[in-house]
Amino acid sequence: MVSWFSFSRRRWAARIIGVTAGLVFLANVSPWSAYGAAAGTPVSLKQVPAPVPSNLGSVVKDQNACVQLGKAFFWDVQAASDGLTSCGTCHFAAGADGRIVNTLHPGANKLFEKGAPNSTLRTSLFPFHLLSNPNDRLSAVVSDSDDIVGSQGVLTKNFVAIVLGQAAETGTDVPNPIFNVGGVNTRQVTNRNTPTMINGVYLNRIFWDGRGQNLFNGVNPNGALDPAAKILVDDGAGLTPQSILIDHSALASQAVGVPGNTTVFTWKGRKFSDMGRKLLNLKPLGAQTVHPADSVLGTLADTATGKGLTSTYTSMISATFLPRYWNSAATTADGHSLMEANFSLFWGLALQCYESTLISNDSPFDRFADGNKAALTTAQQAGLGVFTGKGHCSACHSGAEFTAESVGNLAASGLISRMQMGDGKLAVYDVGFYNIGVRPTAEDLGIGAKNTLGLPMSLSRLAQSGANVGTVLSPPISPTERVAVDGAFKVPSLRNVELTGPYFHNGGQATLAQVLDFYSRGGDFHEANIANLDPNIVNLGLSAGEKANVVAFLNSLTDDRVRFSKAPFDHPSLNVPNGPVLPAVGKDGGAATNSFASHMLP
Ligand code: HEC
Ligand code: HEC
Repeated sequence: MVSWFSFSRRRWAARIIGVTAGLVFLANVSPWSAYGAAAGTPVSLKQVPAPVPSNLGSVVKDQNACVQLGKAFFWDVQAASDGLTSCGTCHFAAGADGRIVNTLHPGANKLFEKGAPNSTLRTSLFPFHLLSNPNDRLSAVVSDSDDIVGSQGVLTKNFVAIVLGQAAETGTDVPNPIFNVGGVNTRQVTNRNTPTMINGVYLNRIFWDGRGQNLFNGVNPNGALDPAAKILVDDGAGLTPQSILIDHSALASQAVGVPGNTTVFTWKGRKFSDMGRKLLNLKPLGAQTVHPADSVLGTLADTATGKGLTSTYTSMISATFLPRYWNSAATTADGHSLMEANFSLFWGLALQCYESTLISNDSPFDRFADGNKAALTTAQQAGLGVFTGKGHCSACHSGAEFTAESVGNLAASGLISRMQMGDGKLAVYDVGFYNIGVRPTAEDLGIGAKNTLGLPMSLSRLAQSGANVGTVLSPPISPTERVAVDGAFKVPSLRNVELTGPYFHNGGQATLAQVLDFYSRGGDFHEANIANLDPNIVNLGLSAGEKANVVAFLNSLTDDRVRFSKAPFDHPSLNVPNGPVLPAVGKDGGAATNSFASHMLP
């Protein structure tokens, strides 16, 4: 099947915690029990309140308007430099990307082993580490590739200018040595697989490597690590720089990273305020159709023309945010209005407002956990038993969120901890981030790498350099103590995992059965990664029946509202490059999203 769809397809307060040698660092944290503990059999996600920023009201005056604005931003293809790419372009299939054409990145060695630019994936290419005996990680390696299944963004160009009233900007071509066919550029592909953003509101930090900080500074993903990040306000005395930090806002920190990214969204040299000015002069979603029964935007749908919204971004921003952030006669030194200059603030918080509504808590598993014992089959219940028992899965995919990187779990566990690693020796690590031996550690350091400020992303390393990261170990971490964070990645939630393939940060597994083989044999780069490997990654020796039952259980984590794009997962129409043409759907949903593997030929 190559068709796409079945149409014949405590508020806990953030606080600045420490200043060491010029390093201002911060974390959040004093536990709030309402977020619940994470051990044992998980509860329904309906029982777990989503974290809410305590100080959002200092910027946002109307939550509903904020969600509307965020939904428009998320799906509006006019935002990217090419006028053809939105957040939804890479997050359209259960919040992930199911495309199979031009989704290959050549990996650390810069050489394609699994295809070429613009090539098409097939099931026979997976898994990317193929063993002669999938149950034995030490058996002969048939093939191994560091290629990555990512998402395609924009062509490589230098930004020249926006053209008022036009979605596409002007730019000049820059030859790309990797992403081209015969010297003609192809869309660039990301070097990591795209995770779903559904349920992202529950995460403490965001991205595979956690670089999207929990505290939002209004400007970039670096939160309180970047004291130079300032927005502008006008309280009657003209434009005044101001620092803000909104807590529980990893989604906002993530969202403002996108327009600065020249692979996914933006031609080199475009400023955030340029994108703001462009969008403020365009009809929201002007190239797309909004369903009149859209759960959020239906009342604003322009049914007369069949395109876009009847509102403007200027009025939507004015309705959402307090006037001091946008209402001023003054302009910046480079000629931008206050609304344009603060566009990163509006973009980040509005996208977060919208994404925070995308909670999938009505899967068969949730119904089962809430008392309907008939909601899971016998096989699924047996799979749950392996998941929480012999498989050690819930040690990391813990709680109703199915990830130890949730706000709730970290409130209980602390942000850093000390444990015996795979080699039996103690080390300090960032809770919620683990090296499970997917790829050799050096290929992608994950949370072991540094951020754009040159600071470690790992809280363990920051703590070791003297910063107070919010969790103090007993005894405290010493400057010479071993830290094991290299090659560690965020534990992804497993909700809707049936529909979010391919799997792992490299997208190297096409099916959940392949993932189960991986865990059962104790990972792929177990021996090579032993210095950072989590001790739960061991030879599990699961039987074929046990693996099948776990897969059946994982399939019970799909919420049918996600599968059928029903509210709140409905969306405007979207033409995905090298992917499906999605019609606008309203609150009652549309065609089913199918698994990644089902799109490929053998
Ligand atoms: C070109 C494809 C592409 C586009 C466009 C895109 N993303 Fe993503 N998204 C990705 C990839 C790849 C990652 C993982 C990157 C990483 O972790 O290093 C990601 C990660 C995320 C995550 C983190 C999820 C998690 O569990 O850590 C969120 C949330 C998200 N994106 C939201 C957005 C929003 C909002 C936009 C628009 C402003 C957007 N994305 C645009 C590809 C894309
Ligand atoms: C030591 C912690 C740990 C344990 C134990 C663990 N996982 Fe994971 N899981 C992770 C991490 C970390 C990732 C992401 C790793 C990467 O991409 O490098 C992951 C990824 C996954 C994915 C891919 C999700 C996606 O969106 O790409 C699935 C499926 C999964 N795990 C299922 C399981 C199952 C089933 C078990 C038990 C047999 C299990 N995990 C045990 C930490 C763990």
